[in-house]
Amino acid sequence: MTWFASPTDVVERLTATGYLADAATATTTFLAGALEKPMLVEGPAGVGKTELAKAISRATGAELVRLQCYEGLDEARALYEWNYKKQLLRIQASSGDQEWSATHDDIFTDEFLLTRPLLTAIRREEPTVLLIDEVDKTDVEVEGLLLEVLSDFQVTIPELGTVEAVRRPLVVLTSNASRELSEALKRRCLYLHLDYPDAEREREIVSSQVPGLEDKVAEQLVATVGRLRELELKKAPSIAESVDWARTLIALEIRDLDDKAVNDTLGVVLKHSSDHDRAIRELRLRK
Ligand SMILES: Nc1ncnc2c1ncn2[C@@H]1O[C@H](COP(=O)(O)OP(=O)(O)OP(=O)(O)O)[C@@H](O)[C@H]1O
Ligand SMILES: [Mg+2]
Repeated sequence: MTWFASPTDVVERLTATGYLADAATATTTFLAGALEKPMLVEGPAGVGKTELAKAISRATGAELVRLQCYEGLDEARALYEWNYKKQLLRIQASSGDQEWSATHDDIFTDEFLLTRPLLTAIRREEPTVLLIDEVDKTDVEVEGLLLEVLSDFQVTIPELGTVEAVRRPLVVLTSNASRELSEALKRRCLYLHLDYPDAEREREIVSSQVPGLEDKVAEQLVATVGRLRELELKKAPSIAESVDWARTLIALEIRDLDDKAVNDTLGVVLKHSSDHDRAIRELRLRK
């Protein structure tokens, strides 16, 4: 399957599903499909990393298979595990009237396999987008596991043999860069750094997601968010927060984002009290 015809095709089809991609995002997405290489998307929280994978799935009609990474994620949760309970039942049911070797062959078959996202994605015959989300949250050992999947698109199950992908999924890995990923993993991926969008694109994103937002207030909002991001905050506002803010302004019927309006609604964008204080001080907001 050709995923996308060109970077322009990426922009058009993602836009149609509500995701506004910049040139670098479009090119990397196009290449990930054309070269069948996983793409690693790195950047701060809330800039649209996870959403990109979802948008690709929507735009292409490919099903999204998601592996959410976390500390302590292991092979049994990421790849597959044997259904021990069912195996035990089968052993009990057949004990006595069957040789052990026959029972053994019996219980290590597909019927007793619980497939987890990586194996599921590899085995699917239909087009698939595999999202490996927040890969920096896992332990380094899981990266070893990913390497086999991402370089050869295969999984080895000792009792069953090697399962090769019938159809390669388009793989998107996301990371907040909370730790350095291994060179081996990076080498297998195309790299995309996603950052906060420029004011114009952010205004487009906000306006497309919040219909009814007037241009003037959209511009004020995006400019204020931009200023907040320049301050040294514990947690800078993300695109998701800009969108929330726009919804808030609509709900409160605020048509002019003046100092008072910012002050009254700052809790939607800043989630730490120290950030709050700093913003009020530095933006010299009057109550
Ligand atoms: N380019 C974009 N076009 C449209 N919407 C966007 C875009 N970028 C971000 N968004 C909006 O921002 C929200 C947050 O994005 P997303 O959940 O993908 O962030 P993230 O980068 O995965 O953050 P985290 O690191 O916290 O998981 C999305 O739900 C979407 O509404
Ligand atoms: Mg995410």
